[in-house]
Amino acid sequence: MSMSVNDCATIRDGFPRPFPDTPSNVLQQFQMKGKVVVITGAADGLGYAVAESMAEAGANVALWYNSNDVAIEKAKALADQHSIKTSAYKVDVSDSTQVSETVTRVVQDFGKIDVFVANAGMAISKPILEQTLDEYRKQMSVNVDGIVYCAKYAGEVFAKQGHGNLIITSSMSGHVVNVPVDQPVYNATKAYVTHFGKSLAREWREFARVNIVSPGFFDTKMGAGPDCLQEAYRMSSLGRQGHVKEIKGLYLYLASDASTYMTGSDVIIDGGYVLP
Ligand SMILES: NC(=O)c1ccc[n+]([C@@H]2O[C@H](COP(=O)([O-])OP(=O)(O)OC[C@H]3O[C@@H](n4cnc5c(N)ncnc54)[C@H](OP(=O)(O)O)[C@@H]3O)[C@@H](O)[C@H]2O)c1
Repeated sequence: MSMSVNDCATIRDGFPRPFPDTPSNVLQQFQMKGKVVVITGAADGLGYAVAESMAEAGANVALWYNSNDVAIEKAKALADQHSIKTSAYKVDVSDSTQVSETVTRVVQDFGKIDVFVANAGMAISKPILEQTLDEYRKQMSVNVDGIVYCAKYAGEVFAKQGHGNLIITSSMSGHVVNVPVDQPVYNATKAYVTHFGKSLAREWREFARVNIVSPGFFDTKMGAGPDCLQEAYRMSSLGRQGHVKEIKGLYLYLASDASTYMTGSDVIIDGGYVLP
């Protein structure tokens, strides 16, 4: 039953909550010095751009990789270049035990986790009638199970700390059925994690923020392949894919105190692909 104006005017205990004790200078809000950021899928592509962005803003960074051990060298280089602490961890995010154990190791090594960027993902882009069930299960295990495991174990740390910040890399494919390659399973995995993230924003409202980034085509290994490249250029209002450097500011914004009033948001960054 909806409430009357009088019912709604009732003063409720604990409201309004206080404003956060953060700097008013916007550049100071973007400072990440002393913060600890975990990034999955951090060896290359969007994940490494995010790692660079956090390091450039002064954060200590834990780079998680699966098969691409260039992450180890990149972690060392970031530490030397920015005088921060970094470490690389080999983790298959579709393995809950590995995720749980590595979250524990990061807390042992760094003392806390301020921000967790659940970014790892993969696609086997095929119509469902051509897709094997193993291919379906593989995408579910990385894109859905992997995000759920990372959120669950990072969330336990956030709850214990009393603060935290989860950022999920979803996709514009969770919003639209992008063309011309049919990939219903990948699209659905991204729709899942977008809604999962919004739901966590409410569940964790007392101690952590949760936001979602939904990229369009970016020029990485997972970006537009030969079958959809020309259509990616035509569909994007800006007529091109994104460069990874163009996503760094958005993740930094969401990770930092510049976005303290933002939770449960899903930010599309796609050069205008989903507009038509
Ligand atoms: N590029 C785009 O156009 C685009 C658009 C929308 C959304 N996205 C999303 O952006 C995210 C990053 O993709 P990207 O474009 O940067 O492509 P990418 O360079 O291929 O990155 C994908 C990352 O996921 C990691 N990964 C895959 N399976 C994993 C597993 N089982 N356990 C742990 N890590 C695993 C890979 O790690 P290793 O290399 O170490 O194996 C890799 O670093 C993905 O979630 C993707 O769905 C990308």
